[in-house]
Amino acid sequence: MATVCLLTHHNILASHLLPQNDTWARIRRSPDFRREFGVSLFTRMFEFAPAVWGNFPWGRGVKEGESPMQNKEFIPFAMRFVDMFDLAIDMLGPDVDWVEEQLQHLGAKHTSYGLMPKHYTLMGRSLLDTLEEKLGHAFTARHKESWHTIYTFMSVSMMQGAFADLKDTVHQHETTINEMKRFDGRKGASVDV
Ligand code: HEM
Repeated sequence: MATVCLLTHHNILASHLLPQNDTWARIRRSPDFRREFGVSLFTRMFEFAPAVWGNFPWGRGVKEGESPMQNKEFIPFAMRFVDMFDLAIDMLGPDVDWVEEQLQHLGAKHTSYGLMPKHYTLMGRSLLDTLEEKLGHAFTARHKESWHTIYTFMSVSMMQGAFADLKDTVHQHETTINEMKRFDGRKGASVDV
């Protein structure tokens, strides 16, 4: 896809890696950064858009007055998210193609969570706000622009994986429909689904 080709252009990404790595290194200085960053990010996202809780298995069926963030699944999930995010950032310099491939797989997995492009936009806004909150004055306009470029690369790669997954599903559906047509009218015939 054109956007991805543009963004994976190593020079474009590389020019944003230094300011972005510098800020991420500051976040990572805290020994408990996975929990702290993950909890802040998701708390912010759920504040912006409480309906997003419904996309998380542990966010469904929450009673009034309760927060899904009290669910025991929340913190381990937030930490797994930061682990993946951290790995992607770490590998962006040495192997952009590998990161792109991993993110495409992850994006394909996310189709089953009912994600739409707007969810990625929401995550991007929450991410930039969380970085700003954690880094204060150290988070300059240049940092913001770099993170914007890098997050665009990450989210577009994930959506590309989701799109490929949907295309496969549509193709399987067409194949099944065609098989059903061939078997139409034949008594006792079965179709693999
Ligand atoms: C850069 C973007 C993102 C990254 C790196 C990411 C990363 C991850 C990771 C690593 C997992 C755990 C997968 C596993 O262990 O099975 C996960 C699961 C999940 N993600 Fe994301 N994600 C991203 C964007 C989003 C967005 C935008 C949403 C929704 C607003 C979302 C919703 C979910 C849900 C619902 C799950 C399943 C949670 C569960 O089973 O407890 N993700 N994500």
